[in-house]
Amino acid sequence: MVASGKGGVGKSSLTVCIGRELARLGQKVLLVEMEPGLGTLDLMLGLSRGVCDLSDLLSGGAALQDAALPVEGQSGLQAILAPIDGQFSYEEEAFARLMKELSGQFDQILIETPPGFGSAFSAAMKAADGTILVSTPDRPCLRDVRAVSDRLDQKPGLTQRLVINRLEVKSFLRRRPLMDLDEAIDTAGARLLGVVLQDEDLPYRLSDGVALLPSSRARQACRRIAQRLLGQQVPLDI
Ligand SMILES: Nc1ncnc2c1ncn2[C@@H]1O[C@H](COP(=O)(O)OP(=O)(O)O)[C@@H](O)[C@H]1O
Ligand SMILES: [Mg+2]
Repeated sequence: MVASGKGGVGKSSLTVCIGRELARLGQKVLLVEMEPGLGTLDLMLGLSRGVCDLSDLLSGGAALQDAALPVEGQSGLQAILAPIDGQFSYEEEAFARLMKELSGQFDQILIETPPGFGSAFSAAMKAADGTILVSTPDRPCLRDVRAVSDRLDQKPGLTQRLVINRLEVKSFLRRRPLMDLDEAIDTAGARLLGVVLQDEDLPYRLSDGVALLPSSRARQACRRIAQRLLGQQVPLDI
């Protein structure tokens, strides 16, 4: 599961970019978007929000082949879009059962959870066996990630890894919103999985539903994150 304390930290963007990299590494990948009524993955992946979404799959009203939409131009990558109904509430058992079923058909499933501790968070926590905690490099955001991490500690065996997103090295060094990345790791209470730089191109490319260019530092960071998720040893290389 991809989680954060606050919204707007880059969960959707990283879900998409890490998902693309996992697919490029040969994995069969499913992205699952949970936040009812506030989905953005359709735009970021160039999909059309059609008749089927996650709620239809959960209710049995749609089959997997109708709800899991293939991403054009990226073989191995599919996405299930969030319920259109903003009032949709998740039933933990049903969601975890569905994810377990799907785990037999995909190598990797990335579940983007909404911020906070609602029914989507509880359902994802029940289903997941690992968490990517996303934070920007500032104390308020990291403290909220810590609150999420403390909640996730209630599930034994659930791994927790931190991704710092939107780092701007020059302004970080000038303004020092934190002493250093160690402070980020200590505040969040999770091991570092990766650091993704602020990328001026990213909002524009993702609004158009296209992949980041190979020269993009953010894309390269997501590549390294994907490799680490697959157990490879890769230097941090910010
Ligand atoms: N590394 C990055 N560089 C530049 N902009 C980013 C980066 N990550 C996210 N953004 C921008 O931040 C905003 C929020 O990102 P989003 O992925 O929707 O966050 P969330 O899913 O956590 O709400 C978007 O406008 C997105 O384009
Ligand atoms: Mg999002």
